[in-house]
Amino acid sequence: MKKMIVAVLAVTFFAASAFAADVMEMKKGVTFSHKAHAEALKDCKKCHEKVEGGKIEGFGKDIAHKKCKDCHVEMKKGPTNCKGCHTK
Ligand code: HEC
Ligand code: HEC
Ligand code: HEC
Repeated sequence: MKKMIVAVLAVTFFAASAFAADVMEMKKGVTFSHKAHAEALKDCKKCHEKVEGGKIEGFGKDIAHKKCKDCHVEMKKGPTNCKGCHTK
């Protein structure tokens, strides 16, 4: 039974995103719309190792600059300059 619940959660991953804050306030005035990203990208694994997501090990400046910025550059969407992310 428990396994089945896990499987259902894994499939309905948008429902699972309810466990993460819709908008995350990060350091240096970065506002990260988790929900908007999850919906726009339609794939939790773009940022997380597992579909259910969770804390990203060692998350901070280096990981953020690589992950966040690289994708914005690649997709030509989202801010790539300091002020675009660091609004304060
Ligand atoms: C564009 C990148 C990105 C996408 C896509 C994404 N997340 Fe996240 N998620 C993050 C970041 C960044 C954090 C914060 C990590 C940290 O603080 O360690 C996070 C945190 C979380 C957390 C932990 C929240 C907490 O406060 O403990 C969960 C759970 C989570 N995400 C689930 C999901 C699920 C489920 C999806 C797909 C529907 C998803 N995420 C899609 C970037 C993303
Ligand atoms: C895998 C790709 C991807 C990753 C990783 C990613 N983004 Fe984005 N981001 C996007 C896309 C695509 C948009 C444009 C969304 C749109 O226009 O609908 C965007 C838009 C934004 C915007 C402007 C719109 C808004 O939501 O306010 C900000 C700010 C932003 N991203 C911050 C971040 C931060 C901070 C991270 C890392 C924690 C991050 N992004 C990681 C793809 C990504
Ligand atoms: C795509 C979004 C994005 C861009 C562009 C970006 N940053 Fe960041 N930056 C972040 C995120 C997200 C963090 C990590 C926030 C956290 O750990 O909560 C961060 C962290 C930092 C930190 C560390 C803050 C601390 O207190 O630990 C510094 C300093 C910084 N950025 C400077 C810059 C500078 C300078 C630029 C331009 C060259 C830049 N950033 C461009 C998103 C971005």
